[in-house]
Amino acid sequence: MSLIEEIKSRLDIVEIISESVPLRRSGKNYIGFCPFHHNVRTPAFVVFPDTQTWRCFGACNTGGDVFQFVMRRDGLTFAEALRALAQRAGIPLEPKTPEVEARERERARLREVLEAAALFYQHQLRHSPEAEPARAYLAARGLIPETIEGFGLGYSPSAWHALIDFMRHRGFPLEALQAAGLAVIREDGTAFDRFRGRLMIPIRDPQGHVIGFGARALGDEEPKYLNSPQTLLFDKSAVLFALDRARAEIRRTGLAVIVEGYFDAIMAHQAGFTNVVAALGTRLSEAQLRLLSRGLKRLVLALDADPAGMHAVLRGLASAREAFPETTLELGPRGWIHLSGQLGVDLRVLTLPEGVDPDELIRRAPQEWARAVESARPVIAFLLDYLAAQHHLEDPKGKATFVREIVPILAAIPDPVERDVYIQQAARMARLNERVLLEQVTSYRMSGHERRARKGSAALLGSAREKPRTGLEAFGSGTEAEATLLVMLGMGPDLLPYLNVRFTELGLEPLTEEDFQDSTHRALFRNLSEFGPVEDWPEETTDPQRPGLLRTLWMELLQRRGPLLRGFDPEDKQWAEEALRLALWLREQRLKGILEELQALAESMPDWPQDEFMAKWQTLAEELNQTQRFRYRRWMMDDPLPTTVRR
Ligand code: UTP
Ligand code: MN
Repeated sequence: MSLIEEIKSRLDIVEIISESVPLRRSGKNYIGFCPFHHNVRTPAFVVFPDTQTWRCFGACNTGGDVFQFVMRRDGLTFAEALRALAQRAGIPLEPKTPEVEARERERARLREVLEAAALFYQHQLRHSPEAEPARAYLAARGLIPETIEGFGLGYSPSAWHALIDFMRHRGFPLEALQAAGLAVIREDGTAFDRFRGRLMIPIRDPQGHVIGFGARALGDEEPKYLNSPQTLLFDKSAVLFALDRARAEIRRTGLAVIVEGYFDAIMAHQAGFTNVVAALGTRLSEAQLRLLSRGLKRLVLALDADPAGMHAVLRGLASAREAFPETTLELGPRGWIHLSGQLGVDLRVLTLPEGVDPDELIRRAPQEWARAVESARPVIAFLLDYLAAQHHLEDPKGKATFVREIVPILAAIPDPVERDVYIQQAARMARLNERVLLEQVTSYRMSGHERRARKGSAALLGSAREKPRTGLEAFGSGTEAEATLLVMLGMGPDLLPYLNVRFTELGLEPLTEEDFQDSTHRALFRNLSEFGPVEDWPEETTDPQRPGLLRTLWMELLQRRGPLLRGFDPEDKQWAEEALRLALWLREQRLKGILEELQALAESMPDWPQDEFMAKWQTLAEELNQTQRFRYRRWMMDDPLPTTVRR
C-alpha cells in the first residue's frame, strides 16, 4: 500500500469534511452546500463514503479525495496536506531517495556558488577603481542607484583569476565554479574566469535565486552579451529575465509584456512597468510561455520593428512547430494561435518604430510606452499586416502567395466568429472575394491538414509488433495508465501543450489534474503543468538536506514506470499519439466516473432536482460521447485523428 493509500485508509473523509461543512445523510451518501463557492439554493456537494471521495455537482464542478479537499479548504500544497494528514493518521513520512538527495545537494551547492559570485561582482562594482567605467556606463544609460542595487548588478574584474581566487579563499572548489558556469577549466587543468571586464547582470529563477549571469561588454568587444552556459540550474531558453520581480504584478493584472533585452526589462522596472520580462534572445520558447501561463490573460510581445526583429518573431512563432512535431502547425504562427487559445491567453504584438528600443522609449517617454502596450495588436491582425506587407497584393502571384500563407493561420483560429472576422479582413486586404477565401479556409480545416501518422504505433512494451493494438491492458489499471502518461509528460515537456492543442481541436477541455484519480498523480501533474520538467520545480523547502516531497514521489514514479517506456522519444510523433490515446482514455474514465456518481446520487437522493440532474447528465454524456468517438475512431479505423472536428 502506498503512503497515500495508507493515510486514506486510516482517515474517514466524512468525518474530516464534516468538521467544516454541515452534511446531511441521504441514502448511502452525504450532501451539503459546497464550501468552495457561494451557494444557498440547491445543496450539490456530495461526499461518497464508499469511494472516500467528494464532488460538487454545482458551480465549481470539481471533486477529489480527502487530499484535494484539505488542500482547497486550507490552501495547502499537496506536500503540506500530506504532512498534515499523515500526522493526523499517525504515520511518519518516508525519507527521500539518495538520487534525489544528491541532485538537490548539487543544486543547492551551485546556488551557493552563484550567490557568492553575485555578491563578489556587486562588491566590485561598488568599490573597485577598475569598475569606474562600468559605473559611468550605468549612469549614462540612466540607471539610478536603487535599480542597480535592486537588480544586484555587478562588475567582473578583467584579471583572469579574480573570481577564482576570491572563491578559493571562501572555500569553494574550482570544479564547483565550473559546474556553475563561472570558470573554464582548460585541458591542461589550468583555469580562468569566464566573465572578465564586463557588467554583470544576475539572472534569477522565479523564486529569486541567482541561476546565471548575462555579462555585457563595456566597449565594442564581442559578444556584446556573454551569458552563462547551460548548467544544472541555468537553461537560457527556459528563463524569463526579471520574472522574479514581475511575478506579483503579472498575477495581479493578468498582463505580461515580453521584451527582448536585459536593459529593456531593467528600464521598464525602473519606470514602474513591473509587468515586463525579457526573453534573453529572440526565440520565445514554449517553456518560457509556460512560466507565465498561470493566471495570464494577455501577453504582449514587444518587438523590434526592423526586418530582423520581425523575422525573429516569425522564427519564434515557428519554434512552436518544432515543439509539436506532429500537429497541424505547418506554419509556426498556427501553433501560437492554438496555444494562446488553449491557455486562454490573448496574445498581442507590439511594434515600435524602427530603431527604437523599449529601453530608449521608456526612458524618453514612459507614457508612450504605456500607450504602445495598451494598443498592441492581436497576433492575427499583426500577422496579416506583416504578411500583406511582404507581398505585392496587386500582382496575382503575390496575392496567391499571400493567400497560401494566411489560410493556415486563419484556419487555426478556434473561435468561429473571430475566424470569420479575420477572413473578412484578409479578403479586404487582398481585394479578394470573401467567399473564395472562406472556401479555402474551410477546406483547409476539413482536409485535416496533417501528415498521416504512419501505420501502426510505437511500442510501449517492446517492439511495435508485440504491442496489443487496442490494448490499454498494456498500461494495467487506471492508475497505472495515469502513471505512464505522467512519466511521458515529465520526460517530454512539450508533450502536454501538444496534447492540449489536440484536445482543444477535438472540442475537449484541456487536460487538468482532475483527469487523474490518484492524489499523488494529481499533484505531480499540477507541478508538471505549472513548472514544466522536474528540474524546474520550485524547492518545497529551503533546507537543502530535505528535498521536496514531490521530487521524491516523482523519482519513485520514474523508477516504477520508466523502464516500461524504454525507447520513449517525446519528439517521435508515434509516441505523441500514444500519449494522446492515454490522455483520451483518462478523460473517458473521469467522465464515466462522474456519470456513475450522478447515477448513484439520483437513486439515493430522490429529492435532488430532476431538471438539474438531467442537464448535468446530458452535458457529461455528450462529452463522453465525443471523447469515445475520437478514441475509437483512432483505434479501430486506424485513421489519424482529424485536426479539426468535423461537425
Ligand atoms: P540586442 O542586441 O537587441 O541588445 O539583444 P539590447 O538588449 O538592445 O542591448 P543593449 O541595449 O545594447 O545593451 C537583445 C538581447 O539578446 C541577447 C541579450 O539578452 C540581449 O539583451 N543577446 C544579444 C545575447 O545574449 N548575446 C549577444 O551577443 C547579443
Ligand atoms: Mn537596447
